[in-house]
Amino acid sequence: MPAATDQTTQLVPGAPRHVAIIMDGNGRWATQRGRPRLFGHHAGAKRVREIVEACPDFGVEYLTIFAFSTENWKRTQVEVAGLMSLFRRYITKETRALKVKGVRVRFIGDRVRLDAKLVKLMNMLEAETAENTLTHLTIALNYGGRDEVARATQRLAQDVASGLLHPDDVDEETLPRYLDTHVLPDPDLVIRTSGEARISNFLLWQSAYAEYEFIDTLWPDFTKAEFGHLCAAYGNRDRRFGAVSS
Ligand code: IPE
Ligand code: IPE
Ligand code: MG
Repeated sequence: MPAATDQTTQLVPGAPRHVAIIMDGNGRWATQRGRPRLFGHHAGAKRVREIVEACPDFGVEYLTIFAFSTENWKRTQVEVAGLMSLFRRYITKETRALKVKGVRVRFIGDRVRLDAKLVKLMNMLEAETAENTLTHLTIALNYGGRDEVARATQRLAQDVASGLLHPDDVDEETLPRYLDTHVLPDPDLVIRTSGEARISNFLLWQSAYAEYEFIDTLWPDFTKAEFGHLCAAYGNRDRRFGAVSS
């Protein structure tokens, strides 16, 4: 069975320890400028470095970003191929900076449908940054919350079938050990850019008690300053987890 989640320690009181971001609005950002959608994706990819590097300043230890969903294959072949090539370029270009800045990178999502060259780069980036501990960056690539739960359930069922796990032991603590996110704490704050107020299949299980921020900014315009405001605002929220405020 995989390792249990680490839900302990917090370095900056009041800060969201784990922020997850649905980076939306690249296409509209490009269209507004009369440019092809891929132009927006390139602009969006460029924003990632500043946000990742800002995490320690705001007490954020875990950042999870939604880069490509299991539903995004429905886009045109040109856009999908362009995104896949952008992911390869991003990894190749950013590995050094991520390594030097103390960022540990992990990928979640189903790698089976991804191109072998891209998967090789993803494995390389994970291995190259495996010793880092300052910021935990998780990139959701070919990720869908329902797909993740289905894959987890399949592995769990295999463990039951082979006698490793008893059906009576399947509970809220057991199932998340089979999720792609099993080593991550649950997100405290989920941000979605671009004005859409939906979660689009992102971290369904994990965000059960997350706080949400839906902001109008398109992802290529998102800045460290706005990220800082949202992290600070999180500190004023009253998370009750079903109980009554103390
Ligand atoms: C988010 O931007 C990036 C991905 C889904 C890959 P979009 O491409 O969804 O941008 P909009 O929503 O069309 O503006
Ligand atoms: C969610 O955005 C996925 C990513 C940001 C990678 P979408 O643009 O795909 O979501 P919908 O289609 O508007 O729900
Ligand atoms: Mg979108």
